[in-house]
Amino acid sequence: MKDLLKKLTIEEKLGQLTMIPPFFYIKDLKKEVFGALTDMKLSEEGVFQTGSVLGIQNHDEMNLVQSKYLEKSRHKIPLIFMGDVIHGTTTIMPTPLAQASSFNPSLVRKGAQASAKEALKKGLQVTFSPMSDLSRDPRWGRVVESYGEDPYLNYILSKETVKGYKSEGLLSCVKHFAAYGLSEAGQDYNTVDLSRLNLFEYYLEGYRGAIEAGADMVMTSFNTFEYVPATTNEYLLRDVLRKHLKFKGVTISDYDSLLQTIYHRTSSCDCDAAIKGIKAGLDIEMASSSYMRCLKEAANKDPEILKLIDEAVLRVLELKKKAKLFDDPYRSEHLLIDASHAKEAAYKLAKESIVLLKNESLPLNKKTKVSLLGKYATEKHVLGPWSWHGDPKDTDELAKHIKAEYMNDSESFFDYDLAKIKQTEHIILAIGELYHESGEAHSKADINLSSHYIELLENLSKLNIPITVVLYTGRPQVLTNALPYINNLLVHFHLGSMTSKVVSDTIYGINNPSGRLPMTFPRHQGQIPIYYNRLSTGRPYSETNPYVLKYLDVSNEPLFDFGYGLSYSKFTYKNLELSNSVATLNNLPTVKVTVTNESDVTGKTTILLYIKDEFASVARPVKELKQFKKISLKPHESKVVEFKLTKKDLSFYNQKLKKIVEPGEFTIFIENLEQKFTLK
Ligand code: NOJ
Repeated sequence: MKDLLKKLTIEEKLGQLTMIPPFFYIKDLKKEVFGALTDMKLSEEGVFQTGSVLGIQNHDEMNLVQSKYLEKSRHKIPLIFMGDVIHGTTTIMPTPLAQASSFNPSLVRKGAQASAKEALKKGLQVTFSPMSDLSRDPRWGRVVESYGEDPYLNYILSKETVKGYKSEGLLSCVKHFAAYGLSEAGQDYNTVDLSRLNLFEYYLEGYRGAIEAGADMVMTSFNTFEYVPATTNEYLLRDVLRKHLKFKGVTISDYDSLLQTIYHRTSSCDCDAAIKGIKAGLDIEMASSSYMRCLKEAANKDPEILKLIDEAVLRVLELKKKAKLFDDPYRSEHLLIDASHAKEAAYKLAKESIVLLKNESLPLNKKTKVSLLGKYATEKHVLGPWSWHGDPKDTDELAKHIKAEYMNDSESFFDYDLAKIKQTEHIILAIGELYHESGEAHSKADINLSSHYIELLENLSKLNIPITVVLYTGRPQVLTNALPYINNLLVHFHLGSMTSKVVSDTIYGINNPSGRLPMTFPRHQGQIPIYYNRLSTGRPYSETNPYVLKYLDVSNEPLFDFGYGLSYSKFTYKNLELSNSVATLNNLPTVKVTVTNESDVTGKTTILLYIKDEFASVARPVKELKQFKKISLKPHESKVVEFKLTKKDLSFYNQKLKKIVEPGEFTIFIENLEQKFTLK
């Protein structure tokens, strides 16, 4: 690749560092255009010097763009095609937040594998996924694209997702670097402010997992870090990303985020932004062209800039080589991929991603006369946000599905006709947010379940018929006022193509729910941000002292905690034992716990192991998830589940950003059990 680099003019080099959508090459492909793209200021010659393409509809379109491009390109360096395969390509997997509810890394990896196959078949070579932004504010619309509030879960699932893509040959771009999930007040694109310690200890974990698994690219975030936009932030892109995380791949801006530095008022004009970007370590500029327009002159003046450009171009050429585009720019072999198992992967994942939060009478019996109500009874678009190539036509409505699979002819559905509802024995109310109520630019100030639903629930509850609510949502919602009227509550964060099958299979007990919440559900939205792994306060809550951590009007407790989730089986946890109560780093305890399924139904449960460092030189969380295992138990079966503690489980960053372990007392928690050990 170095020889090829030498042959390129400066214009051709800068082209390799620029990404534009397909319609620039073929005008008929024009779609909606926002932001800097409306005025790219690119000549025809410039367009055919660019290096990568944002979004492609299918393999034919890719072929068309690639062939037209190669005809005109001097060195025949193929374009590389990237796009947002966030949770599936044609077959839509559960959203990342839903996948996180499964606590099943292996199914998450298999989902990514299936999505990768479909993506390659569509003509893509890179996906802009995983989104590894730690998310603790449910008002933020993008929590649905994340793995939730826990750094360890984020780390593991980001890792498995990348492994899944990689095993099929799809390259991946982890995003948004860094700490985008901390957008103030949950507003997308807002300011982020956090300490380096918070970044290293908690917010980096997801990206770290993806990078360790071999993510090929990193996308910068829209926010600032330490008052400098991430896209031009040298500390983030060089010190943290390249030195600390040892990332060797290609960096890319988010959509016009380089030019947005002008709006942040840290770049005076597009040429200033371009110089700041290349100096900071930004390789590809997405959806704007300041590199192409400004860096030639800058490189002429400053050989250091030319050197940085060469390094960036080399990384891009290596990426194209990795995508095997020099062997076959059309990646024709991808057309032959067998992606037929995608539905199965989506079903398995979705089954484990639905969460049961309250249960008095599920599962239902087929003979029960049911009223199925709510907009999701008949809503076809159940795929969730970012379901780009997914077609709602491929999915069944819940009503159709339940009717076909679970009901006899004598039973029917009624629409808010109280007289008719009265004649049934159970109400299923399928409600919640539509797909466009979460995702990018879809933050909300009010995440209470709509008062309209609460009124409806109150009225329905007067009929004295048990009510099952199935909540479709892209975020935790405040359900406090609704809960008293609900007998059974199933929640999911949009399950994709298999939604209706999984929802009905779960209501009728074909699927025994095993999901757990990856984000805390607040009791009141004034509690936000609320997350389980908070730090200890100097004034912990006490009934007797008025000067403690509390609200005057709401308790400190969430409505549903991170990790909460019920099953139709009844699991008990006993005999939490540590192999040794005094440990050294070379002899860390093995933790054992006996889990029993006390019920007559086979089920899966996730054993969550939390650790509390009782005393440390910097404040440590009240507890932190360090390991988990999901197991299946037959009726009345018991299993002893073992965890081997590791140094990583006990270590943390100190104020100098050094990862250390301090001797002292640690407490292990599993469900309602706890045990202590001392590290010498
Ligand atoms: C903007 C989004 O923030 C990012 O997640 C996405 O990958 C890009 N647009 C490209 O579509």
